[in-house]
Amino acid sequence: MYRKRILCISLILIIILGMCACTNPFKPQTKPTEEPAPAYSMDYLVLVNRDNPLPEDWEEHLECEYFVNAVGDTVAVEKTAYAEYLRMKETLEKENIFVDLDSAYRSVKVQQETWDEFMVKYGEEYTKAYVAVPGYSEHHTGLALDLFLIVDGKIIYENEDLVTYPEIWARIHELAPEYGFILRYLEGKEDITGYNYEPWHLRYVGPGIAREITDDGLTLEEYLEQHK
Ligand code: DAL
Ligand code: ZN
Repeated sequence: MYRKRILCISLILIIILGMCACTNPFKPQTKPTEEPAPAYSMDYLVLVNRDNPLPEDWEEHLECEYFVNAVGDTVAVEKTAYAEYLRMKETLEKENIFVDLDSAYRSVKVQQETWDEFMVKYGEEYTKAYVAVPGYSEHHTGLALDLFLIVDGKIIYENEDLVTYPEIWARIHELAPEYGFILRYLEGKEDITGYNYEPWHLRYVGPGIAREITDDGLTLEEYLEQHK
């Protein structure tokens, strides 16, 4: 009987202590779970040109894919732009148009090397018309793609050779917006873009906007000015 009572009291005590532990005001409360940081979303409309340098924090968020091109160079491209480029390339191949990437993402150091190479090869006037000053190239964004052509199995790589295939470029430019690309340096708009016509230089902005910019015959500068 005595044992039974002890057992009963112990049981009640255990239950009370258990309840206290649950509501103990001195027990450290677990912090409410912190909100996860919002995912960084790339600004596919970022403007990098003669007047606007690459945003300072751009490269810390940039995610690239890497591949080796037909001339053995490793090329880095922003992830979404690369996926869309591959889809466009596949469509072009069905029409017997073969393209590859000469370069896409370029660090400031590589841009300086490009600048130096052009200065030796073509001189100052040409270099200034075709190559951005390091820090002010949209190639730093990973969203700009320089294409080269493979025609009848032959690699067409140099600027002066590339411009001799206007029909091929016309078809590429026609298809590009479907995959989110615009022709960045338009003929006749050199005073706005700051650079000569470059049929090989496409820029990823996303499909809807690429269609709008292309159909309206705009440069990225003009589009952004209209949509401030
Ligand atoms: N060819 C373009 C202008 C660049 O160097 O960024
Ligand atoms: Zn380019």
